[in-house]
Amino acid sequence: MVNSSIRCIFFLLIISTVVSLSNAATSHGEVEDEHEFNYKKNDEKGPERWGKLKPEWEMCGKGEIQSPIDLMNERVNIVSHLGRLNRNYKPSNATLKNRGHDIMLRFENGAGSIKINGSQYELQQLHWHSPSEHSVNGRRFALELHMVHEAKNGRMAVVTVLYKIGRADTFLGSLEKELEGIAVLEEAEKNAGIIDPKKIKIGSRKYYRYIGSLTTPPCTQNVTWSVVRKVRTVTRKQVRLLRVAVHDDQDTNARPVQPINKRMVKLYRPRV
Ligand SMILES: *[C@@H]1O[C@H](CO)[C@@H](O)[C@H](O)[C@H]1NC(C)=O
Ligand SMILES: *[C@@H]1O[C@H](CO)[C@@H](O)[C@H](O)[C@H]1NC(C)=O
Ligand SMILES: *[C@@H]1O[C@H](CO)[C@@H](O)[C@H](O)[C@H]1NC(C)=O
Repeated sequence: MVNSSIRCIFFLLIISTVVSLSNAATSHGEVEDEHEFNYKKNDEKGPERWGKLKPEWEMCGKGEIQSPIDLMNERVNIVSHLGRLNRNYKPSNATLKNRGHDIMLRFENGAGSIKINGSQYELQQLHWHSPSEHSVNGRRFALELHMVHEAKNGRMAVVTVLYKIGRADTFLGSLEKELEGIAVLEEAEKNAGIIDPKKIKIGSRKYYRYIGSLTTPPCTQNVTWSVVRKVRTVTRKQVRLLRVAVHDDQDTNARPVQPINKRMVKLYRPRV
């Protein structure tokens, strides 16, 4: 009797530790808990209120360099000095995770790096938003990929690819079986084996560059954004697969565009 209640208490302790560990936000990263915020307009946990939900999320409300933004032609400066997106990625062991608000592919030990203005940023995870979060001249696209990188000093850089409906994307195609698996999986995590981030096609050297924030709480600022200029394609089925796997009741996970304020947007175009 005594023995079994002690066992029961011990069991509960383990459960609560596991739960609190899985709810913890990563140091600089995004929040993992699926019910803390949502994307519903005018909801108490919706995007307009993220900054009021927790003291550590206040930047979502009062930050002046937030993301996403509209990339409007009139405010873009064309430059040739930023340099190509120098992607030095390597095939790495990755896990697909359902975070409740999106699907993330996490590289357990990083997957190589990119160099931006002399600093190395390591690729840690990628995830998808639909419809796209960034818009171009007011137009939103079907899907947006975020490749999240972090430097040793904690500074973050996100490389983004936009997709419209059309031919299948081969990288997403290679993950379809795992995505189907995660849609029914209770634990919502699935090892995807060795994934090569170089297989993510970009198809253009041109990209927009501006300084913004994470697009989910805590909306950390000073993130260097590189939005690839060329809009690529995915099928409706691929977008649906990403949405079905997310365990929420919304059909969107895109934050509304944020005020540009005094920011500059650059468009890198190599000299020919
Ligand atoms: C990748 O990591 C998972 C979990 O950490 C492990 O079970 C699996 O064996 C690893 N796969 C490879 C190919 O290293
Ligand atoms: C690049 O780095 C230099 C020196 O650290 C800095 O002065 C400059 O503003 C940076 N340029 C960009 C575009 O971030
Ligand atoms: C933001 O980034 C710039 C360089 O991109 C750096 O000089 C500055 O110290 C950073 N500010 C904060 C608050 O981290």
